[in-house]
Amino acid sequence: MKDPKTALLYGIRQLRRQVERRLKEDGGADVFYRPLPAERGHGRAPADQMDASQKALWQMAQSVRHCSSCPLSRTRKRVVFGEGDSRAQLVFVGEAPGMEEDREGRPFVGAAGQLLTKIIASIGLKREQVYICNVLKCRPPGNRNPAPAEITACKTHLTRQLQILRPKIICALGTFAAQTLLNSQEPIGRLRGKTYAYETIPLIPTFHPAALLYHPQNKRLVWEDMKRIAEILQLPVAAPEARRKSGETG
Ligand code: URA
Repeated sequence: MKDPKTALLYGIRQLRRQVERRLKEDGGADVFYRPLPAERGHGRAPADQMDASQKALWQMAQSVRHCSSCPLSRTRKRVVFGEGDSRAQLVFVGEAPGMEEDREGRPFVGAAGQLLTKIIASIGLKREQVYICNVLKCRPPGNRNPAPAEITACKTHLTRQLQILRPKIICALGTFAAQTLLNSQEPIGRLRGKTYAYETIPLIPTFHPAALLYHPQNKRLVWEDMKRIAEILQLPVAAPEARRKSGETG
């Protein structure tokens, strides 16, 4: 027999689950959840004015918020679904949310995120013009590496997200994103430098921005990868010297 406090907490949790399920079935709002600006239609149109892919992503984000497919659901603060332009030609896939991302519910908002913003700017784009997500939607405690079982559990979300987005090109940031999308065991140092295909979409693996904070000498190689992306998207890019002068490079 449970003690009264445990029994009460158990009852409350059960009740909450039932109400959430009911609301979801009815397509109603989730009374327990305060949506973030980024989650309200990905910061764009109200639900009734969204285009098809925006709506599909938004609906998906609502259901992924309740995901409990792996134990990370018990330690996360927020699910970090992803954000950006639902019609983006370029999608960046990172590894997993860190502490700040977990707190804010948005991808790449910490130090690595600031560098990613600069990397995106190096090919003349703004963050809002691309889409950014991760292999794992929930933070591994202590920022440890994603476990294989967590990647397997979360991969269905990423696969569906990419099916909806259908970008012109995918940039995999770091070993975990590259290995997951390419079904490979090779480390990023061996995978980068080539263009692959994810289904029929060109995929370019590059170093993770967090790794660049420790190994800034690899920024030169990331720039090579970004030039390859710009070429595929037919974006004009400035030479590194000009970018340095304009203060764009990290
Ligand atoms: N690192 C990632 O891979 N993703 C984030 O969202 C933040 C840091």
